Amino acid sequence: MTRIFAGNWKMHLGPAAAAAFLDRFLQRYDGSADREVWFFAPAVSVMTVAETVRGRAGIRVGIQNVHWEEQGAFTGETSVRMAAEAGATAALVGHSERRHVFGETDAETGLKVRALLAGGLIPMLCVGERLEEREREETLDVVLRQLRVLDGLDADEIARVRVAYEPVWAIGTGRNASPEDAATVHAAIRAELVRLGMPVEAAQVLYGGSVKPDNVGSLVAQAEIDGVLVGGASLDPDSWQRIVAVSLD
Ligand code: 13P
Repeated sequence: MTRIFAGNWKMHLGPAAAAAFLDRFLQRYDGSADREVWFFAPAVSVMTVAETVRGRAGIRVGIQNVHWEEQGAFTGETSVRMAAEAGATAALVGHSERRHVFGETDAETGLKVRALLAGGLIPMLCVGERLEEREREETLDVVLRQLRVLDGLDADEIARVRVAYEPVWAIGTGRNASPEDAATVHAAIRAELVRLGMPVEAAQVLYGGSVKPDNVGSLVAQAEIDGVLVGGASLDPDSWQRIVAVSLD
């Protein structure tokens, strides 16, 4: 399976900084058939990123958030169609910062997944437990509940969804799940995706949370980990270059 190395730039890299980043990164990135590089750019930078990477194989541009309505009086929001027009072909949904900073619910996450699929974009659904939930040994309950928004999708739709497991306590903290712990959760996620109707070969589960150049190798060495979703370490072209160049042998 092609591995996905996805950078989530969060609220960093406006158009000028994104162009400077790509200028440096693309000089040294040759691409490779065994991996794809995805950039989840801020909405205002999506078009710049899409235009800069146009024609480069194995690179996808995504947006970090969309609204589920097609248009209307939703100040500050971006519709799926607008994101697509700017060049996005994927979007993050249910990122822990959307859930815990902006109060996004599972119901809203489900609406976004459906709007994205209807608009032809790939939803990357983020799931993950908070520290207190992990300590209460509720990790799998939380993650499986968050996946329930995929209930009722038809086979074609669910096959287009990607999932990122990001334990909330590992995001931006320098702590990460051990590769073995992450693999256990990934196996449960994969089993649930298959139960929901996803073909096993389409079930791609990424890990996110303090992924760095020096730990990415041990994470992607796990058969259950099909890629990584990276925040802080995706912002510097040199560290990002080291991450996406990791050996997959
Ligand atoms: P960090 O890599 O900075 O921990 O962020 C992870 C994340 O939230 C990616 O979506």
